[in-house]
Amino acid sequence: MYEKEFAEVQKLIEGQDQWRLRTINLIASENVLSKKVRAFAGSDFAHRYAEGHPGERYYRGTSFIDEIETKLKANLKILFNCTHTEVRPISGTNANEAVFSKLVNREDVVMANSTPGGGHISHHRMGSLGKFTKNIIDFPLTADGYHIDIEKTKFLIKSAKPKLIVLGKSLFLFPEPVRELAEICAENKVKIIYDAAHVLGLIAGKQFQDPLAEGALLVTASTHKTFFGSQRGVILSNMDDEEWRKIDRGAFPGSSSNHHLHTLAQLAMATYEMMEFGQQYAADVRANAKALAAALDRLGFNVEAKEFGYTESHQVAVNVSNLGGGERVSKTLELNDIILNMNMLPHEPLRKHDHPDGIRIGVQEMTRFGMKQDEMERIAELIKECVIDNKPVKDEVNRFRRDYQDVKYSYDDLPETTEKKPAAKSRK
Ligand SMILES: Cc1ncc(COP(=O)(O)O)c(C=O)c1O
Repeated sequence: MYEKEFAEVQKLIEGQDQWRLRTINLIASENVLSKKVRAFAGSDFAHRYAEGHPGERYYRGTSFIDEIETKLKANLKILFNCTHTEVRPISGTNANEAVFSKLVNREDVVMANSTPGGGHISHHRMGSLGKFTKNIIDFPLTADGYHIDIEKTKFLIKSAKPKLIVLGKSLFLFPEPVRELAEICAENKVKIIYDAAHVLGLIAGKQFQDPLAEGALLVTASTHKTFFGSQRGVILSNMDDEEWRKIDRGAFPGSSSNHHLHTLAQLAMATYEMMEFGQQYAADVRANAKALAAALDRLGFNVEAKEFGYTESHQVAVNVSNLGGGERVSKTLELNDIILNMNMLPHEPLRKHDHPDGIRIGVQEMTRFGMKQDEMERIAELIKECVIDNKPVKDEVNRFRRDYQDVKYSYDDLPETTEKKPAAKSRK
């Protein structure tokens, strides 16, 4: 009875698959799975449950996922040099909620990055943090808007007495002052939470600050922005075992029941790719972001934070108020198959969130498809032709993208199954 509608949805999915391979995707919060990891989205784990921890499940039939989850946790401990890992949150927001639900009580003061200052909605009054306290104060920023004002923050820590501070953000160009704030936080018993959703892959690849080593108590993150996916969340820490038990209960049963085992298995696979290729990938991502920023600047765009070298992450922020604003520019680019988001910039009032001055660009996905600095120059030219010269560039974008279809920094070249090879050997 619904065959036609069913087929229509199938067609839409196929349409998306084909279309996105023709586009230049510059959304800063996305990445692609390798073909090999993506192929396991349909594993039997997609049908299963496994509450609790490996070896202590509330469900039967979990022996395979137990082994995978144990390996994943061990590998994350090596990658991030930590003693505790929580891999059950199914997103970064879910990871934040697990932490906030256990550490924040009504009326507690929490300091976080404001929305124009780059903060994420889950750190906001309207988002996850706001469910536990409304006493959220913004970090004071320096005049450029991309750095926390350390002296003013120290003053606020002493005077407003926050219970915790949440560093890390969504518009995230430069490292946060974890080391600089660690001492005063310790003196005042302020916990440092570091949201690494955007930069987890750069941290894993040793191309960004190491927040735990610098003094953060907990790191929360998504696993699919600069990390290689799948779409999930993690919590990392070196806190003592008793404190960690609270966080553990925040993840389950506090903010999840089943933890989506098929994507957990994919994350375990992608983590090996990160362990092998992460350093080179993260270095290439940073170099590409800087190259794209410099090229856009040269071509006449108002690239933010020029005096600081534009960026140290995968992101570039551009003020496009002179070109009609972020909404207009991002829509025009989308019509030409260049996909990126409008974004508020630090100088803007909150009421402008629907019509911000900025766009946020991320190079991590195109880097994973093998693009380097020369390709960044070409992308900058295409953006310029599209939004400054008002020329249609869609055909050229599609042509350009044809040469970048394979996911690099991956095991995609390995044979299809793991079983065929030993069998062939034994026949010899
Ligand atoms: C800083 C920050 N934290 C948390 C999240 C939420 O992650 P997720 O989309 O995995 O829930 C985001 C998402 O973009 C983010 O930018």
